[in-house]
Amino acid sequence: MKGLVAANLKMNLTGQQTLSLVKNYTKLIKKTRNDVVVCPSYTALHLVAPVIKKSKLHLGAQDIFYEQKGAFTGEISGALLKEFGCKFSIIGHSERRNYLKESDELVNLKVKGCLKAGITPILCVGEDAYSRDGGESFSFVEKQLRACIAGVEKKNIHKVAIAYEPIWALSTSANRRDITSREITQMHNYIRKILKDIYDVRTAAGVRILYGGSVNDQNIDEILKAENVNGVLVGAASLDAKKFARIIAAFDARKQ
Ligand code: 13P
Repeated sequence: MKGLVAANLKMNLTGQQTLSLVKNYTKLIKKTRNDVVVCPSYTALHLVAPVIKKSKLHLGAQDIFYEQKGAFTGEISGALLKEFGCKFSIIGHSERRNYLKESDELVNLKVKGCLKAGITPILCVGEDAYSRDGGESFSFVEKQLRACIAGVEKKNIHKVAIAYEPIWALSTSANRRDITSREITQMHNYIRKILKDIYDVRTAAGVRILYGGSVNDQNIDEILKAENVNGVLVGAASLDAKKFARIIAAFDARKQ
């Protein structure tokens, strides 16, 4: 299975800053055997789309609305994003769940909206520090995952990438803590098991599970020692083209 390395630029850069970053990506990332996706702000899509089109990179969004067209003021559909060549979208990021109060039900509609539009959803799940400390990380993630992929048919689930992003390990988290490769293995194996329960072994094996949470060029080798890591979702480190390129190189170099 092809790996997936995605840059979540969040709301950090202007259009011109995004353009300059993406140009640096394309200089440093000339070839890769994995899917490399850049997710800028909507306002930068028109600037970076032509540059990405000529490169090995793919374009992604940070969110979509679940309907394709109509009276939905302020929203952006998968159909509109495809105009820019967007092939991926992050869905249900913890920052949106927190600040925008996105529920599992809404995230589920967005996952289905992506599939309808032919966009690969990168569905984020992950527990907060409170659940981790209370020994409830597995039940938390299971509940979230089951609700967010409810109704996604067996024939479509391989089109969904699942990103495990523990909130307590994000670079911007207050009192953040490092995650160990053992902890990543435990959760990624658990996610695979849930998929197996819902679908079957073969179907579950075809779903990409990404890790996200302070991934950088210093810890990528350690993270890649974990089992069932089919990709990474990178925040802060993706704002530095050299660091992001080193992460991709490490990912490309790993034994599959
Ligand atoms: P950091 O890599 O900055 O922790 O962000 C992770 C993330 O939220 C990616 O979606």
